[in-house]
Amino acid sequence: MKIRSVELAGVVAKPGAPPPARLPQVVFSGRSNVGKSSLINRLLGRTRKGVARVSATPGKTQQINFYRVDATLAGGRERAFLLVDLPGYGYARVPDAIRASWQPLIESYLSTSKSLAGVVQLIDMRHDATAGDLQMLEYLETLGVPVLVVLTKADKLGVTVRRAKAAELTAQLGVPVEQVITFSAETGEGRDELLRSVSALLTEVAA
Ligand code: GTP
Ligand code: MG
Repeated sequence: MKIRSVELAGVVAKPGAPPPARLPQVVFSGRSNVGKSSLINRLLGRTRKGVARVSATPGKTQQINFYRVDATLAGGRERAFLLVDLPGYGYARVPDAIRASWQPLIESYLSTSKSLAGVVQLIDMRHDATAGDLQMLEYLETLGVPVLVVLTKADKLGVTVRRAKAAELTAQLGVPVEQVITFSAETGEGRDELLRSVSALLTEVAA
């Protein structure tokens, strides 16, 4: 898949508000600080002037950002889709009121969207999966949405540890190994594989 252009299409901050366009949606989810903005920027090839802000104040922005992406899929077909950046969960220093508003916002979007191509769930590969990660995966399973798992910050681990940790997390999460991608926003490792997988999700939803 080749990315041709990216622009912010809209923001949803209230449960029940509809997505800004009726396009297939690829959603990025993960706990705060997992590396979601960095991954999105690397994936879209926007490392110098990022579209997704790499924040100094994690967990502050409780809104869903929708980016319209125009891309050429593997088969040469042109495709517009929405890349959806969910607010990160589980940040310890977020006030309870903000934390409580997270779930209705996310769940109302995910459960009512009619055009979900898939959800990319990010897990920091240096740590174990959190309770929030497992809850999210369980919830996605109940929705029946295709899920990809991306293990982030791979460059922070040596090659041997990385392999062991990837196997351990895959078992912990109970996802098929074909759905798991090891990624580094720092080195670009995993970018091509993730682009191929996202392209496949979009091809399936178009069929
Ligand atoms: P919030 O939006 O605040 O919830 O965080 P986020 O999930 O968007 O994470 P973000 O991309 O802002 O990255 C968090 C921190 O991790 C930043 O300091 C990044 O530079 C760092 N980081 C993200 N990805 C990588 C990676 O692949 N390798 C390394 N070494 N650091 C990374
Ligand atoms: Mg972010």
